[in-house]
Amino acid sequence: MKKSTLMATVLLGVGMLSTEGFAAGDGGEAIFKAKCASCHPAGGNIIKPTATLKGIKDPKKIITQLRKGGGGMPAFDTKAISDANAKLLADYIMKTFKK
Ligand code: HEC
Repeated sequence: MKKSTLMATVLLGVGMLSTEGFAAGDGGEAIFKAKCASCHPAGGNIIKPTATLKGIKDPKKIITQLRKGGGGMPAFDTKAISDANAKLLADYIMKTFKK
């Protein structure tokens, strides 16, 4: 993929995701659908097919990645996803996308 295309995708992603698209207490699945599923449908990865969410062993890896972003993924700060919600989200990903 061209760099410019990648940037456009990232900017689009950030723009679409800048408002909290879920209600407090909705749980990991709702957060995943609102914030992550556009690029990671069913735990895959439409931008970088090798970087899936399947079989991740440590929830800290998920939280670190979502806070720092990079490599085509936007960063999500605590305004986009609170620490409590990041934990719910990581738990959901770990138990849903095992393989
Ligand atoms: C705009 C598209 C996009 C969105 C939205 C997105 N990601 Fe990603 N994600 C990526 C890309 C691209 C990579 C690969 C980054 C790399 O390899 O440097 C990635 C990598 C990851 C990885 C590392 C996977 C691995 O095995 O290396 C995790 C974990 C992850 N994303 C979690 C999330 C979570 C959680 C969310 C929602 C809060 C999310 N992503 C939203 C595009 C996205």
